[in-house]
Amino acid sequence: MWEYTDKVREYFLEPRNVGEVDNPDGVAEVGSIACGDALRLTFKLDENKRISEAKFKTFGCASAIASASALTEMVKGLTVEEAEKITNQDIAAYLGGLPKEKMHCSVLGQQALEKAIAYYRGVPTEVKEGEIICE
Ligand code: FES
Ligand code: FES
Repeated sequence: MWEYTDKVREYFLEPRNVGEVDNPDGVAEVGSIACGDALRLTFKLDENKRISEAKFKTFGCASAIASASALTEMVKGLTVEEAEKITNQDIAAYLGGLPKEKMHCSVLGQQALEKAIAYYRGVPTEVKEGEIICE
């Protein structure tokens, strides 16, 4: 059995920011071929171009839910330039660590954010067939 930190449990059992932002500035969906899980992320910027709201929906596991939820909290108040520097290790650290077998699940949120930012910038962001976003 994997050991989860209290923070992972908390973010899994009562995830913050589940759902979808109205009139989002950034939208993305990513999927993992490895585990078949998927995640949708939306965010909105305020008049100072800072992220005021971010929400997610996922078919992922407990770690993916906790990671995505943590990420939506972490990005609040950041500019997209600041938000895109967040790595999946940062997400895991915010949660007090993830079991190493579950580190890949935090990649889903991080990649969704990257794509949602690309969408915001007008870069085409289709998830390519067969794309693998984690190992
Ligand atoms: Fe699929 Fe975690 S998201 S194993
Ligand atoms: Fe589940 Fe990587 S295998 S997110």
